[in-house]
Amino acid sequence: MKIIMKKLRTLILVFAFVCSMPLVYAQVNSPPHLSKEGAATQLIVDGKPFLVLGGELHNSSSSSLEYMEPIWPRLTAMHVNTVLTPVSWELIESQEGKFDFTLVDGLIQQARRNELRIAFLWFGSWKNGVSTYPPVWVKTDSARFPHMKDEAGHTLEILSPLSAATRDADAKAFAALMRHIREVDGQNHTVLMMQVENEVGVLGESRDRSAAANEAFGKPVPAELMQYLQKHKNTLIPEFRKVWEDAGGKTSGTWEQVFGPGKPKGVAIPVRTLSPPMTPEEHETAWRKLYWSVDEIFMAWQYARFVGQVVQAGKAEYNIPMYVNAWLQQRDHAWPGTYPSGGPLPQVMDVWRAGAPGLDMLSPDLYVQEFDELATRYTRSSNPLFIPESAGDARGAANVLAAFGQYNAIGYSPFGIDGTQTAGPDGPMAIGKAYELLAQLWPMILAHQEKGTIAGASLDKDHPTKKIELGNYTLTVSFARFWWTGQNPDYAGAIIMSSGEGEYVIAGKGVSVVFSCDRPECGATGIASDEEGTFAGGAWIPGRRLNGDEIMSGNGVRLAGENYSIQKVKLYQY
Ligand code: DGJ
Repeated sequence: MKIIMKKLRTLILVFAFVCSMPLVYAQVNSPPHLSKEGAATQLIVDGKPFLVLGGELHNSSSSSLEYMEPIWPRLTAMHVNTVLTPVSWELIESQEGKFDFTLVDGLIQQARRNELRIAFLWFGSWKNGVSTYPPVWVKTDSARFPHMKDEAGHTLEILSPLSAATRDADAKAFAALMRHIREVDGQNHTVLMMQVENEVGVLGESRDRSAAANEAFGKPVPAELMQYLQKHKNTLIPEFRKVWEDAGGKTSGTWEQVFGPGKPKGVAIPVRTLSPPMTPEEHETAWRKLYWSVDEIFMAWQYARFVGQVVQAGKAEYNIPMYVNAWLQQRDHAWPGTYPSGGPLPQVMDVWRAGAPGLDMLSPDLYVQEFDELATRYTRSSNPLFIPESAGDARGAANVLAAFGQYNAIGYSPFGIDGTQTAGPDGPMAIGKAYELLAQLWPMILAHQEKGTIAGASLDKDHPTKKIELGNYTLTVSFARFWWTGQNPDYAGAIIMSSGEGEYVIAGKGVSVVFSCDRPECGATGIASDEEGTFAGGAWIPGRRLNGDEIMSGNGVRLAGENYSIQKVKLYQY
């Protein structure tokens, strides 16, 4: 009887294993996609979560495979794992209907040879607001592919998103690209995701003022948008909801009736919004609110509808994550038109969600100093954080730790990664060292993102300290002064994981961390032990045991060297 039972058990186990095979195979073989894993949304590649340690190429680099050849190994050496590289409409469809994917194929092969992944940036109808990347047959036929007009009636070098012909031509080319990527990469998954267009929006005007646009502007707000606003009323982005409510919270009406007035007649848009003429106070506040709101909201809807259909056409061929990137409103670019009006900015995220539901992420090109403020605004409405453009210097190196630790980012990517500048400790591409650290911590970061037991901090002179609640303690992260100069570094960052009760793994550079516990049962908090070390293949290799000056005589830990370090600290109560 015992033998029969044993055999039966073995049979059941074998059966269960065989049954689970197709599922495992399907997961490994499914195209890259986003998935909600516990507390985080993660990018799943070959069945496993993946962190994009990215780098975006300069705009023209990937137009030549020969030029690119020596660049890939340099990026691998910097611990980059994913290269964000343009693929432009003009180069794949220089003659209407005739596609040439030689460059796309070459880039994929080069990436594979260097064990790198790719995110392609579709430079289609728009790049940085303007339309310089469509093929010549599109650019020169403005009867078929109309351009925008400004208030004075001048034609802008910006294709109008209200044109169905432009949208269909763009979508057709993008769909052909996605079909080709599926054919050549559907099994390998070198291509992880797609950016659709680049920093769309109107520059030099607050909205499109062509005849077709003016006509649409005078009509009622489309029912789809009104229904979305009503359905999501309680979760709308607050600054957007305020605009709607201030205009009376109407459920129908023309654009101006529903969203209030736009730019007053005759106002010329400056290149920059400076102080003076703005008062210092306006200069400080104007870039954080919707200005001439209806113009920006109207344009956001037009771009979202256009891009949404391009995305839909592409996803019908090959469904991998797709995102749009934003040129942000900033102190010197506070009015719509001084930054691309209608782009996927945080204040109009709801309009983009309503108009382009197929998009997976709205992503900030995050160059401004206010990293935490923007990362927070971009993680509202469950938007996963992916930063396709940013700095790669010491500031970027600090920010990337906060991005993955504090905001569960999917990826981070400094712009101009192939620049010829040196990658010195504080040079333009200092981020390579932070990537080396993150590559070591990779499986831990992903597991802690899922559990919600991770945090991060990025410090600069305006934000010299940060309080974090993690694992039953309050952690105060501050600059660790260089002992030989007594000065703070310019930037510092840390990623922190709570690995057990009173236990933390802390990695970074230039920070001190002080722990406190305010719970009634807590006494004073001391450092039971602090160990420096590295991870190799997920295993901890201890180095120095830290004490004395290195743990601030028991008051906290310091990651104060010139290099990144990892410490495992255990606390105790006394
Ligand atoms: C933002 C754009 O999206 C990039 O393509 C590039 O032009 C950079 N600006 C240059 O700073």
